[in-house]
Amino acid sequence: MKIEILQTADGSNTLYLPELDETYHSRHGSRQEALHVFIQNGLQYYLEKHPEATEINLLEVGFGTGLNAFLTFQEMGKRPGTSLHYLGFETHPVPQEIWQQLNYATSASEKEAYCHLMEVPFGEKTRVASFFQLEKIQDPIQYLVLENQIDLVYFDAFGPRAQAEMWDKTIFEKLFKALKVGGVLVTYCAMGQFKRDLKSIGFHVEAIPGPPGKREMTRASKA
Ligand SMILES: C[S@@+](CC[C@H](N)C(=O)[O-])C[C@H]1O[C@@H](n2cnc3c(N)ncnc32)[C@H](O)[C@@H]1O
Repeated sequence: MKIEILQTADGSNTLYLPELDETYHSRHGSRQEALHVFIQNGLQYYLEKHPEATEINLLEVGFGTGLNAFLTFQEMGKRPGTSLHYLGFETHPVPQEIWQQLNYATSASEKEAYCHLMEVPFGEKTRVASFFQLEKIQDPIQYLVLENQIDLVYFDAFGPRAQAEMWDKTIFEKLFKALKVGGVLVTYCAMGQFKRDLKSIGFHVEAIPGPPGKREMTRASKA
């Protein structure tokens, strides 16, 4: 599939798939969106709610460019005493010649960290730092069979228009099962039917302000 690199409004890159007419992030700012939806309203929220947590199990649906993993790695580096296991599902890994051109790292040491995360092979648990272990799985999320193991889910699939099957209720039933009690799922999507599906599964659902260019996003907790 053809992939193009675009620049979003905050200066950070995203990828564009002409065949689906879909970008990997918001055109209003990929970095800004990832920080708002996944880091501030996901990771930071979870850590504030669970100050006792020393080991976090995080699952991402759609590892893609690794932007969320990279920002999570940076955030965890500021939190001594807490370590994180990052489990990323991805069916179509971004080719190296593409991710190498992305501008997410802004210094030589960030570039080294980003490359390290992207070079971790699929199917192996790799300790990237004392506080960060990465495991990438090249399987569709539909194959997930975990129970009561995950603290936080980043749900970052393509939108319902481009990939409707990713928003099927059965996927969120599996994610609900995979989450521990007190676990949290965050996503940029705020569609009404999606939120009703989450509620019917048993999630406590919050519509919270979205990143620039988007009125709302969704946070769902397993109470
Ligand atoms: C919105 S993009 C990725 C965003 C990514 N988090 C990033 O920051 O680059 C969605 C990703 O989901 C992946 N994907 C598509 N179908 C999938 C599936 N069934 N299971 C897991 N990932 C899937 C796509 O290949 C794509 O990389």
